[in-house]
Amino acid sequence: MRNSPLKIGDIELCSRALFAPMAGYSDLGARYLARLYGAGLTVSEMVSAKGLIFENKETQKLLDKTEIETPFAAQLFAHEPEILCRAVGLLPEGIDIVDINMGCPAPKIVKNGEGSALLKDPVLAGELVAAAVSGSKRPVTVKMRLGFEMGDFVADKVAREVEKAGAAMVTVHGRYREQMYAGEVDRNAIRKVRDAVDIPLIANGDVRTLRDYERMLTETEADGVMIGRGALGNYKIFADILGKSVRRTEREDILLQIDFLKREYPERIVVNLMKHHVSAYASGKAGVAKEIRDRVHHATNYIELFAIVDEYFS
Ligand SMILES: Cc1cc2nc3c(=O)[nH]c(=O)nc-3n(C[C@H](O)[C@H](O)[C@H](O)COP(=O)(O)O)c2cc1C
Repeated sequence: MRNSPLKIGDIELCSRALFAPMAGYSDLGARYLARLYGAGLTVSEMVSAKGLIFENKETQKLLDKTEIETPFAAQLFAHEPEILCRAVGLLPEGIDIVDINMGCPAPKIVKNGEGSALLKDPVLAGELVAAAVSGSKRPVTVKMRLGFEMGDFVADKVAREVEKAGAAMVTVHGRYREQMYAGEVDRNAIRKVRDAVDIPLIANGDVRTLRDYERMLTETEADGVMIGRGALGNYKIFADILGKSVRRTEREDILLQIDFLKREYPERIVVNLMKHHVSAYASGKAGVAKEIRDRVHHATNYIELFAIVDEYFS
């Protein structure tokens, strides 16, 4: 199966390594870099289906994409099939794939029966996919976790339901909701989902290097790997996976990210968003990583932000 390119419905991806959606992190600049370095797919930050129906401007803005992001998936969260069906009908052009969030562990999402709460109700999970499929011509995919409570593995059951309902791909983050982001990723459990479905399976969790990527593919027998935190400030992981060389400096990447954010947000927000990104780049700088993080944490304007970039990333 891995000899032919990975496909989501009829959409062929140029790589088996996909960039994960991360609210507050996978903004336009981060996604541009992921794609530039060779990620097979970029996904929007999670977007409220209700927010789309109410034409909330902030929600709509999360679906803006850069000119090189094709294919691009919009990730929606919802718990009512009818709302989801209407929301997918409102997606703008340029969205190639609809992804449904069944993994978010945040209490404010879970208490509404959305995100990882859907793992407790495989039938509703299937109904949501069926509703999204009926409301859109685009392939519908699902991103989930292993289960809700620790050890209560249900991802195989949920994956079967969503496949039956028409899902074109499923991504599994190898942790339970109860774990949030702590503990080890369970690659054996992801492997069990592989056996449960015929649609492409993407494995996710704690991949930071080419070696981690290869290990994830081998141990889970997945069709692809989604990389989130391990790609922040390290977008070249996507080039490494393709065996491709991209000649860019970290400084160029950081300045490009700032440029993208400036198009969308005022100074205060750009500086705040860049705190995460600059801290991620700092991880690779032995000896000064903590100093960079401390300084960027206190930055309040462009002058301070650019001073840090000039001093540590020239
Ligand atoms: C800050 C943050 C925000 C996230 N936001 C989303 C999101 O909007 N949608 C989603 O499906 N997953 C979200 N995730 C989960 C990631 O997509 C991914 O499943 C998880 O981080 C494990 O993969 P990684 O170890 O490669 O980061 C988020 C994770 C983090 C750390």
